[in-house]
Amino acid sequence: MAGIYIHIPFCKQACHYCNFHFTTSLHYKNDFIAALLKEIVLQKDYLGNETVDTIYFGGGTPSLCTKQELKSIAETIKSLFIVVNDAEITLEANPDDINEQILLAWKGAGINRLSIGIQSFFEEDLLWMNRAHTNRQATDSLQLAKKYFDNITIDLIYGTPQLTNEKWKQNVETALSLNIPHLSCYALTVEAKTPLEKLIRQQKSLDINPDKQSEQFLLLMQWLEEAGYDHYEISNFAKPGWRSRHNSSYWQGKKYLGLGPSAHSFNGESRQWNISNNNIYIGSINQGSIPFEKEILTGTQKLNEYIMTSLRTKEGLSLAIAGNELLEKSQRFITAGLMRLENNSLVLTREGKLLADGIASDLFF
Ligand SMILES: C[S@@+](CC[C@H](N)C(=O)[O-])C[C@H]1O[C@@H](n2cnc3c(N)ncnc32)[C@H](O)[C@@H]1O
Ligand code: SF4
Repeated sequence: MAGIYIHIPFCKQACHYCNFHFTTSLHYKNDFIAALLKEIVLQKDYLGNETVDTIYFGGGTPSLCTKQELKSIAETIKSLFIVVNDAEITLEANPDDINEQILLAWKGAGINRLSIGIQSFFEEDLLWMNRAHTNRQATDSLQLAKKYFDNITIDLIYGTPQLTNEKWKQNVETALSLNIPHLSCYALTVEAKTPLEKLIRQQKSLDINPDKQSEQFLLLMQWLEEAGYDHYEISNFAKPGWRSRHNSSYWQGKKYLGLGPSAHSFNGESRQWNISNNNIYIGSINQGSIPFEKEILTGTQKLNEYIMTSLRTKEGLSLAIAGNELLEKSQRFITAGLMRLENNSLVLTREGKLLADGIASDLFF
């Protein structure tokens, strides 16, 4: 089984914290869609005979695409790849794009899972983030989406300078009261070259406080576990039966094809990533070649990637896969209460999850 990711590199406005690849100019959207359809054809053999069981429209803002655009992308994929009948087809949608008519159109285009970028239910936080939606749109869009889709996930951001623990609790409680079956919760990261980084440097915004972020992450794990959610990956929580099949396949090391500028692909042996520039992407595809860079993975790199991703999951790092010598290397983390051995796998404790990346790199070969 394999996945396909499609990157739609357009947004209505630039959120202050975001360094994903996007432009706020929609000028070349038609040319982009035409190029994307050509890239699908050029990449039709990338996954070999592998069956595709997840398709993910991410971005940027895929909810800026028309029904016809989404439909032609999905149909082109289905005509060239072996897509299973019950494939999970996710669309990342921004709350301000959601209305009754478009929800029906998405259903008609075969979308069966929505990932809605809520970030916060508080107006002052949304303004601070420079989001295009209001707090009213955050709740209204979810109530409306629930009428047409049962498989819904939302993104929330914690650890912003002004977010108190009380407000964080209210954000999580609002999501729970709306009975959203899957939550992705991210600690705010100050990324280089973003407006947020500049605002902090110029002292126009408070900086983030890592201790407060850790505290809010610990609270989050406690609240969501009490509410019956399965903490199946560091940033992801699902009610039983509602895990994301697409994201899970990344963490399980399955093959995936990424389409569109900045999209990454993995075929088991190498990784490649398309150029993060819309004009070069469109121009190059129109000449019949995909502009990408590629890295062939060594055995050690593959193992280290496995350590990094598996430690972030609930199932943990299998010693049968990574080798028993990791148990000795992990002993100090086990003694410190950051890790435990479970079914011959190393699994991070709640405190360990705060230090996941550091622990993983300490275990690298
Ligand atoms: C790249 S966005 C795409 C989804 C959609 N455009 C949206 O904004 O709702 C995916 C998610 O990444 C998260 N994200 C992006 N930049 C982040 C940052 N610097 N810190 C924490 N979370 C971030 C946000 O929660 C966002 O919803
Ligand atoms: S967070 Fe989403 S909407 Fe905001 S700039 Fe990034 S991709 Fe665009």
